[in-house]
Amino acid sequence: MEQDTLQIRNLKTQFFTSKGVIPAVDDVSITIPKGKIVGLVGESGCGKSMTAMSVMQLLRKPGKIMGGEILFQGKNLLQCGPKELRHIRGNRISMIFQEPMTSLNPVYPVGRQVREAIMLHQGLDKKQAKEKVLHIFRQVGIPEPERRYDAYPHQLSGGLRQRIMIGMAMVCEPELLIADEPTTALDVTIEAQILQLMRKLRDEHGTSILLITHNMGVVAEVCDYVYVMYAGKVMEQSETYELFRNTSHPYTIGLLRSIPQLDDKKERLYSIDGMVPNLLHLPKGCTFCNRCGHAAGRCKKERPDSYRINDLHSTRCFLYEKGGQPDEDKCK
Ligand SMILES: Nc1ncnc2c1ncn2[C@@H]1O[C@H](COP(=O)(O)OP(=O)(O)OP(=O)(O)O)[C@@H](O)[C@H]1O
Ligand SMILES: [Mg+2]
Repeated sequence: MEQDTLQIRNLKTQFFTSKGVIPAVDDVSITIPKGKIVGLVGESGCGKSMTAMSVMQLLRKPGKIMGGEILFQGKNLLQCGPKELRHIRGNRISMIFQEPMTSLNPVYPVGRQVREAIMLHQGLDKKQAKEKVLHIFRQVGIPEPERRYDAYPHQLSGGLRQRIMIGMAMVCEPELLIADEPTTALDVTIEAQILQLMRKLRDEHGTSILLITHNMGVVAEVCDYVYVMYAGKVMEQSETYELFRNTSHPYTIGLLRSIPQLDDKKERLYSIDGMVPNLLHLPKGCTFCNRCGHAAGRCKKERPDSYRINDLHSTRCFLYEKGGQPDEDKCK
């Protein structure tokens, strides 16, 4: 069997604040097989970006990885030295950040920045590299690429900057691409183009992709597998088709109901009742129990494990303790 590109095992990332320790990523395990797109979804603040930043080891203080393993092609990144890590990050893993302005250098024209990345990674000369930049600019939907080539980051809109970052991350054809909400700021036509490019990267180069998003529609369209996070934990994980066909966790059911439907006549979007819990004061039992329509006595006292429903699908809910069909008595 082919080796998985990335295995995150029991990752724990915490923030040490004056108010207490925040368990931002709590015992998270995610597998990204070679050539697959894996979606990571969940509401704001659930730990998606901190999971990605932990993989890249770009966490800032007061955040710290407190446990677990991050195996890239079988090698634990948490045990690599800074030099080796820089090499892997520069050549084999690319990340598209949620905030693109932070990763472009403000004092160089954007075309030159992408050209230099190409020359470094692909050994092309200046002229060939410039051709390639213009080609990738067209692919990510940048209008008038020749003119944009000489623009400085501040002269471009947020959407254009994001497309340049996506182009730069893709052009190096990394083995693993981590994309944190890459299309959230873009309009739907450009979003569709970028998602199509990601599929192409997967299909033609065997790139493995971790795609972080709020949007279940995006998951349905491009992801092979999906992990649903809530308050620092993975609540449900599944092959994508199976997740939509056989949604099990009450939280995921809520997330899916909140996707607007084309024929929706309602003025307001459905949203899950209640508030995301404060990570400093999590309920003793299931972290979703204060918002769950099924929650009963046991859910408020005990934390459920992740239970296997079938080979493709697991869920962190007592309803599925025996696997297979939900059993309402289990919550009592
Ligand atoms: N600098 C920080 N100091 C303290 N706590 C932090 C800090 N950054 C993140 N956290 C904690 O980590 C949690 C997870 O943050 P993260 O950025 O991963 O959320 P997210 O799922 O990416 O949300 P969004 O969808 O809004 O991007 C937050 O809820 C917060 O409690
Ligand atoms: Mg985020």
